[in-house]
Order: sequence, then C-alpha cells, then structure tokens
Amino acid sequence: MYTKTTIGDYSFTNCLMNASGIHCGTIKELDELDQSLAGSLVTKTATLKSRVGNEEPRFDWDSFGSINSMGLPNLGIDYYLEYLVEKEKQNTDKPYFLSVTGLSETEIYEILKKVNESTFQGLTELNLSCPNVPGKPLTGYDFELVETILTEVFKFFKKPLGVKLPPYFDNSHFDQIAQILNQFPLTFITSINSVGNGLWINDETTAIKPQNGFGGIGGKYVKATALANVHALYKRLKSEIKIIGVGGVSTGRDAFEHILCGASMVQIGTSLPGVGPDAKFTQVTEELTAIMQEKNYRSIEEFRGKLKYID
Ligand code: SIN
Repeated sequence: MYTKTTIGDYSFTNCLMNASGIHCGTIKELDELDQSLAGSLVTKTATLKSRVGNEEPRFDWDSFGSINSMGLPNLGIDYYLEYLVEKEKQNTDKPYFLSVTGLSETEIYEILKKVNESTFQGLTELNLSCPNVPGKPLTGYDFELVETILTEVFKFFKKPLGVKLPPYFDNSHFDQIAQILNQFPLTFITSINSVGNGLWINDETTAIKPQNGFGGIGGKYVKATALANVHALYKRLKSEIKIIGVGGVSTGRDAFEHILCGASMVQIGTSLPGVGPDAKFTQVTEELTAIMQEKNYRSIEEFRGKLKYID
C-alpha cells in the first residue's frame, strides 16, 4: 500500500490506526479494528486494576467533535496484555500498541514492569495526558515529573516505548518537553490527547456530568492544535523519536496534513465510533491514497514533515 510506514524497527501496512479510548475497550471492539484496514491498533489505556470510570453521562458529541470525561474506564492490564499476546501469535508480522498508565508514579512503574516481563513484543504507549481523573493532575504538564518518570522507567524497561502527550500551547513548553524527551531512547510520541477542561452546555446545563461538565475536547475543534503540536515536536525531537499524530482526523486530507507536519502514523479518534472501523479506515485510506496519487507521492516518506512555509 502507498500508506505503509515504520516506527522504530516495526513496519505497518497502513499508517492509520485508532486512537486509544476509541473502539478499543473490549475484545469485540479490538477484533473489529484488527479486521479493518487499520495498520495497527492501540488498546484502551489500561491501569493495573480494572476501573469503571466516571459517572455517566460522560461523553457527548456533535458534528464538529466531542467532549469526554471517561475517567479511564478499562478492564485492567491483564485483559489487554493477554489479548495482544494472543493476537501476536495469530498475526506474527502485525505490530500492536498497548496503552497503559498509572494513577500514581508507583503504579506506572508497576504496570510497566509487568509489561516488560510479559511476552508482549509490540509497542507500549505510556499515557501521560489523561485530563479526566478527578483530583489527579495531568502528568504531561509537570515537566519535572515527566523527566523523573522517564529516568526511572528506562532503568528497567527494555521494550519499545512511547509517551502520549497533552497539547502544548506555548513555544517555551514545546522547547521544554522536547528537551526532556530527547534525553531518552523513546521510540515514539503520540500527540495530542484531548484538549483538557473544555465545557459544553446544553440549554442551561452541562453536557456531561463528571467534574461539573469539564472534559477533554476532540474532533475537528482540535485539529489546528494537533497539527501545531505534531509539527512543533517534529522540528524539535531527535529523528529516532517518531511521531504519531492524532486530533481532528476524519478524512484523507486530515491524515495527509498530519503527515506533512511530521507524523509517521495517524490515529483516528472522535470520527470513528459513528461510522465503525471497517468503513472509516477504508474511507480515509482511499482518500489519502488518492491525494498521494494526484501529487505523485508513492510513499508517505516523500512528504512526511515537508510542510512548506510562505516565503
Ligand atoms: C479517559 O478515559 O478519561 C480518556 C483517556 C485519556 O484522555 O487519556
């Protein structure tokens, strides 16, 4: 396929995949992703123990995007790890992503030790950017803590690791986070998680219940922020750290723009559930391929990161 890609030592038949949290909480959903045209899949972010997450309603959407305060509902690390290990036996040449986090620093180390000791051979995405756990600050905005966590993690973690980052909004923050990430043998980053602490109102009432209606915003509303983060980090990170772009992707054109900004893979989030993996990945792959054919690009490497600036 025109849209094949690589991250670290892994090759993918297609650069498109789901975003963690979208259609990836259960074996049924993960299997549907696996059977689609997506080049890989990532699980729902797993914690050590299963979690029910925040109170409902905790998700709402309109034609431009979504708000969520899910609160990391998930079936626990063992569920997702066992699923992926089994998948790896069936599809020996398809790399998969496992998303994990901890509600404390200790839990992050504990969960990554478990992954390190398992037979899982794919890539691990450490989520440092969930904005929705009441009382828990968003790790990716605490630069000192990110550095401490990565220092500790790389003392024992020997598998390919990436981090999922929140959106940054200031050049000094792009500089600071890149300076920290460049110190470590990271295989990739995923940028961006939802834009935290948005507020939607229906008539006179908040659209979702947790945290008095505050939640992470995704979809078309955040595409400009996502593209800026992908490009700002592409310009600052060492070339060994590949970028997975996420935010506002519902068409081949959106995916093309993420790649132009520097993404090696592109995740689809908010626009996936309404349509389903089969139809969505077929549509976006076909549209992206058509754009590439029209521009005479035979691989994504021919235009990845080559965003042009007005003179
Ligand atoms: C959630 O479960 O609250 C969303 C996950 C995330 O934003 O990382």
